[in-house]
Amino acid sequence: MKIDHIGIAVKAVAEAAKVYEQALGLRVSSVDQVEDQGVRVAMLNIGESRLELLESTRPDSPIEKFISKRGEGLHHIAVQVDNIEVMLTHLKASGIRLIDQMPRKGAHNTRVAFIHPSVTHGVLVELVEHGD
Ligand code: CO
Repeated sequence: MKIDHIGIAVKAVAEAAKVYEQALGLRVSSVDQVEDQGVRVAMLNIGESRLELLESTRPDSPIEKFISKRGEGLHHIAVQVDNIEVMLTHLKASGIRLIDQMPRKGAHNTRVAFIHPSVTHGVLVELVEHGD
């Protein structure tokens, strides 16, 4: 298991990406939009992992709610799993509270599910399974 990416909520992906590129010498590897989540997503490679910049694309999106409540900043940590269904079954059997009972479509051809942050001591944890 490894950290797939760290999610950061920002007001504007283009501006935020510029700062991370200039300040840390990182590169945007891809930009994507997830309609059902109402987010625009930019990925920046950092070693074997990535930073995921998240910008809201509509007023009722989870990222919009997060930013209006807590401001820009760290949003979630994502861990890569080989089989997200097996992982979710395991978590349910262990009595772990989940936000997503079933995997949903993530950015860049992934399937994702979130563990409830009340379980993981205030940190939102995302499970990510990569497609081909
Ligand atoms: Co993420």
